[in-house]
Amino acid sequence: MTDIKELLLSRIRDVADYPEPGVMFKDITPLLADPAAFTALTDALAEIAAHTDATKIVGLEARGFILGAPVAVRAGIGFIPVRKAGKLPGATLSQAYDLEYGSAEIEVHAEDLTAGDRVLVIDDVLATGGTAEASIELIRRAGAEVAGLAILMELGFLGGRARLEPSLAGAPLEALLVV
Ligand code: PRP
Ligand code: MG
Repeated sequence: MTDIKELLLSRIRDVADYPEPGVMFKDITPLLADPAAFTALTDALAEIAAHTDATKIVGLEARGFILGAPVAVRAGIGFIPVRKAGKLPGATLSQAYDLEYGSAEIEVHAEDLTAGDRVLVIDDVLATGGTAEASIELIRRAGAEVAGLAILMELGFLGGRARLEPSLAGAPLEALLVV
């Protein structure tokens, strides 16, 4: 494992049985609190933005906002929030998706993404892939192109990568860490 991967991994805390029994929560707050680790993460994600020729960053509420916004600044491109339903004041596109129990909905301001945009989606964790899949659908429906999906940590045993293959349609899924 490279030094940067070791640094990032060492700053992610496993919390057992949170938010419910049987789930191992990946807590990124120690990483955010460490400026060397947060800077290394931002630089690594900005490098992905550069080599995928992204023209915009989409961050997925909430933790994708924290990671994605500094990447957009570093890369010199715009940041677009994809929010949980009901939080954006303008005209939105909405996308529902299934959770383990029940469903959820995410939204984006329709005017923020247009044809000609190449969008890199950023989030902290890829689990089942439901959230990322819904965001990719939103970006395509807005008429923009998906440049790729960049994730801090992929939980490989949950099969998100295979689920996303059809919707990514050849765009790269780059995970800095895979567990
Ligand atoms: C978590 C995580 C990812 C998503 C991954 O977000 O931050 O966004 O779940 O799960 P999936 O691949 O199964 O969709 P969550 O909405 O739980 O919380 P957050 O608002 O703190 O980001
Ligand atoms: Mg999230």
